[in-house]
Amino acid sequence: MCGIVGAVSMRNIVPILVQGLQRLEYRGYDSCGVAVHASSLDATRPAGLQRARSTARVAELLEQVQTDRVDGATGIAHTRWATHGAPEVHNAHPHFSHGTGDASGTPGRVALVHNGIIENHEELRAALQARGYVFTSQTDTEVIAHLVDSHYSGDLFEAVQAAVAQLHGAYAIAVMHRDEPHRVVGARAGSPLILGVGTGGGEHFLASDAMALAGVTDQIVYLEEGDLVDLQLGRYWIVGKGREALTPAQRPVRTVQAHSGAAELGPYRHYMQKEIFEQPRAISDTLEGVEGIVPELFDGADGTAAWRVFKEIDSVLILACGTSYYSGCAAKYWLEEIAGIPTQVEVASEYRYRTSVPNPRSLVVTITQSGETADTLAALRHAQSLGMQHTLTICNVATSAMVRECKLAYITRAGVEIGVASTKAFTTQLAGLFLLTLALAQSKGRLTPEQEAAHLKAMRHLPVALQAVLALEPQVISWAEDFARMENALFLGRGLHYPIALEGALKLKEISYIHAEAYPAGELKHGPLALVTSAMPVVTVAPNDALLEKLKSNMQEVRARAGVLYVLADADTRIESSEGIHVIRMPEHYGPLSPLLHVVPLQLLAYHTACARGTDVDKPRNLAKSVTVE
Ligand code: F6R
Repeated sequence: MCGIVGAVSMRNIVPILVQGLQRLEYRGYDSCGVAVHASSLDATRPAGLQRARSTARVAELLEQVQTDRVDGATGIAHTRWATHGAPEVHNAHPHFSHGTGDASGTPGRVALVHNGIIENHEELRAALQARGYVFTSQTDTEVIAHLVDSHYSGDLFEAVQAAVAQLHGAYAIAVMHRDEPHRVVGARAGSPLILGVGTGGGEHFLASDAMALAGVTDQIVYLEEGDLVDLQLGRYWIVGKGREALTPAQRPVRTVQAHSGAAELGPYRHYMQKEIFEQPRAISDTLEGVEGIVPELFDGADGTAAWRVFKEIDSVLILACGTSYYSGCAAKYWLEEIAGIPTQVEVASEYRYRTSVPNPRSLVVTITQSGETADTLAALRHAQSLGMQHTLTICNVATSAMVRECKLAYITRAGVEIGVASTKAFTTQLAGLFLLTLALAQSKGRLTPEQEAAHLKAMRHLPVALQAVLALEPQVISWAEDFARMENALFLGRGLHYPIALEGALKLKEISYIHAEAYPAGELKHGPLALVTSAMPVVTVAPNDALLEKLKSNMQEVRARAGVLYVLADADTRIESSEGIHVIRMPEHYGPLSPLLHVVPLQLLAYHTACARGTDVDKPRNLAKSVTVE
């Protein structure tokens, strides 16, 4: 999704802004741009805003700024993922205001970058046009630039404060003004924005993600909902929601580890491949320090005790999107079978808008890698507004809005995930959800010490078990050679492995652009069997569980229609490779945890199929990492 970097400094800040954009590239974008205050570096230059914008990669933007000599000590930069208006240069940020008094036609007084969506942009646009403002883009963002301009009377902070009061929707913005060469003003509501406290020279930074500032500063202030921030040389000033400009808000400065290591590819071709192979490490980090099942594992940062909450709840409501939703679907099987707790799993974007029957005794569990997904955050707030106050998140980013807004949390330690297609975040979410299941089972008196010991032993063995599955890569590559020639694929699973089939299909479609669908295998003859021909490979997840014999019948149904099966089979399933049946035998493993292992060959299948088709694996078309707009 969109990314913001901004700075007030004494040195030419353009290389740092562009480098920041490069660090945010993995989030997905279709255009980029940078604007600087020309006289901020050299006071002899005429005051004015300069900019460069491009629909190519950030590397091309860098060439453009060098050719056009765009440099300055105060600047803002942006990567845009199109929502309003096509990915064309005139829609790329930064946007300039063109005031009515700006007869020369040169760029106006305000430069602005924006993440999020302004819902009332049409009415604001009409009002501004009526006042003579001329629009040069189809974006909702340009409205904010003109709005700030319309409120400006010598103080940018005041103008931004007045402008955001008129906005409905989600935004993180960074704004500069032609007449204030050493000032950038930021504001956030609904989209993340952080302040980077500079380590020398009085410089300060703004960014939508601390990762953009890796190597520049590790002193980070996480701005809160409704905050405005005023960046000037040698000082910064934060004002909270609804406060007067003279009352600064105190926000802690945190030392945040730079993620520079995550950006190194090492021996891998793509981040996705690297992240698939990092799963043993990610799981062992996620489970580090777990000596036994105790509710304290889920205690909130504000001291909320999980044991109290666990005693009170009688059901679980899981809210999430995409891959995280599928990890929730798998957890439902664990929660109902092991902990005996009725569990409902809802797609966050649906839940937030439908009329549902709230249960104040339900534990609302949000699952999110980024902790910033707009739909999941909105679904959480919706549940809270309905009176459901027991909230817990399984999240990969300890400093995210989701962790701040939930009472309880389990932080997965997958590390930064750069590939747009989620892999290690998924398996670490499953690990966190399995722990949650055990903790709830224990608090409901459904976990004996022997069961606890057996589950924990199997969890500790997961990194080794994952290594054994990763060793199957050469066999998966031979499957991928067949898949690369296909345009459709079907994935089948039953029970706990149906969500794994769903996740396998999602991975394949996301990065190889092959149309893939997943079904619970028992549904086959209720419709999808009509699609089965020799041109429709059918991937089957076949662990040796209670449903194996039924699954074997479903496989016969496929073979009888000339369908070609690709089966992930456990050693003792007695499913053998034969005409039209390709079998990869899974290493022996602990039954309840098998979803964590079965998903890995499916991730590898999607990855190698995409490589064979030559797609942009880490940045698939139209997709973005961290979906911070609705
Ligand atoms: C798919 C994928 C997405 C995310 C979804 C939710 O590979 O990554 O489906 O899972 O956008 O994102 P988070 O987990 O950040 O809330």
